[in-house]
Amino acid sequence: MRCAVFASGTGSNFKTLLERKSSGELHADFVLMVGNNSKAAAFQHAQDHNIPTLHCAPSHFQSEGEYSEYLLSQLQKYSAEMIVLAGYMKKLPGKIVARYHGRIINIHPSLLPAFGGKGMYGSNVHKAALEYGVKLTGVTVHFVDDEYDHGPIIVQQCLAVQDNDTPETLAQRVLALEHATYWRALEAICCGKLVLEGRRVKDYG
Ligand code: GRF
Repeated sequence: MRCAVFASGTGSNFKTLLERKSSGELHADFVLMVGNNSKAAAFQHAQDHNIPTLHCAPSHFQSEGEYSEYLLSQLQKYSAEMIVLAGYMKKLPGKIVARYHGRIINIHPSLLPAFGGKGMYGSNVHKAALEYGVKLTGVTVHFVDDEYDHGPIIVQQCLAVQDNDTPETLAQRVLALEHATYWRALEAICCGKLVLEGRRVKDYG
């Protein structure tokens, strides 16, 4: 499966995917990395693995139409079959979401639909979970549709909130769980195990 990875920041999830690919556990081909922030460490991870990179942000274009067309042309150029979002902070244009329907995945640091949606990223998610007082939180891998954090859920993993957790300690444990989870979801897709029935994703592995 030829994958384009979109990342805006540290790219620790991307790095983990690359490590699983190198160890032979993940059968994905990373053909392109797209980032909106040229300083993102994710660019370095791509370069370390000789993966072509593309620095491209909506602000570089006059309209969303031009931006979408350009992104689509690049995805086609590299024959990307799917898009893996790994800490990508921009909303994908509707045209790309429609073109790649059922072929875009994202990982979110909570048990959706709790603590998702616009503005729910980074420590905001963990602050909200602690303020609400949930006893369990975790990670969600989901297909992407045109609403934030809303598409069909592929897998969720949970962990217990401790009484002495802060947003920082929780973020650390959740991120480690993300690293253990994302590659498995992508591998299931690469092996053709997942079937989408309405909002339900069934694993016929
Ligand atoms: C992760 O918490 C992920 O759930 C969210 O963005 C963050 C990216 O972290 N979508 P990293 O850049 O992979 O370290």
